[in-house]
Amino acid sequence: MSASKPNVVFVLGGPGAGKGTQCANIVKTFGFVHLSAGDLLREERSKPGSEFGELIEKHIRDGTIVPVEITCSLLENAMTKNEKNNFLIDGFPRNQDNLDGWTRQMGDKVNVHFVLFLEAPEDICVNRCLSRGQAGSGRSDDNPESLKKRVVTYNNDTMPIISHFDKLSLVRKVDAAKGTEEVFDQVKEHFKGFVES
Ligand code: C5P
Ligand code: MG
Repeated sequence: MSASKPNVVFVLGGPGAGKGTQCANIVKTFGFVHLSAGDLLREERSKPGSEFGELIEKHIRDGTIVPVEITCSLLENAMTKNEKNNFLIDGFPRNQDNLDGWTRQMGDKVNVHFVLFLEAPEDICVNRCLSRGQAGSGRSDDNPESLKKRVVTYNNDTMPIISHFDKLSLVRKVDAAKGTEEVFDQVKEHFKGFVES
């Protein structure tokens, strides 16, 4: 993390909306650092002897949200370790606890520019995750039971957070039901202010 306050863009959308895919494109084109809260939690879960491994795995399987103290510390550590200044934070903040914890811990340390919201109908999102599971994603939550719960969490807990940011005029929405390239054409429009690398 450099001396000036880092720039942050949050990336939100339902499970299977394409957050990881679009973040990879943004990294390539605009030189951002991609921090996926889900990936960081899966990595922490897999560390031998991790104090939080079991708790994280239970939340992931149940599609519920890990306490923010754990997730926010993983995000802050990842940011601190990095020299770069532009960060995509993918899959966070997912509920009110995430938002409150972030505000407490990071509110003064970063500039949140906007929230990229990948919007796609539930059936498309669920089918993408099921295909990903069948194609061997190895994720313990790309199965019908976990997906039902993930969708409930998204509708009940994450949508209100997106509405909160929308009231602050911070949401940049794209139609994420389209193919990867068409979605990225829309995404690019929102990153024009960041120099292309
Ligand atoms: O974003 P992703 O689909 O990779 O998240 C997978 C799971 O990780 C979520 O369903 C949730 O259980 C956990 N997670 C979390 N808090 C976040 C992001 C992800 O608990 N902010
Ligand atoms: Mg992801």
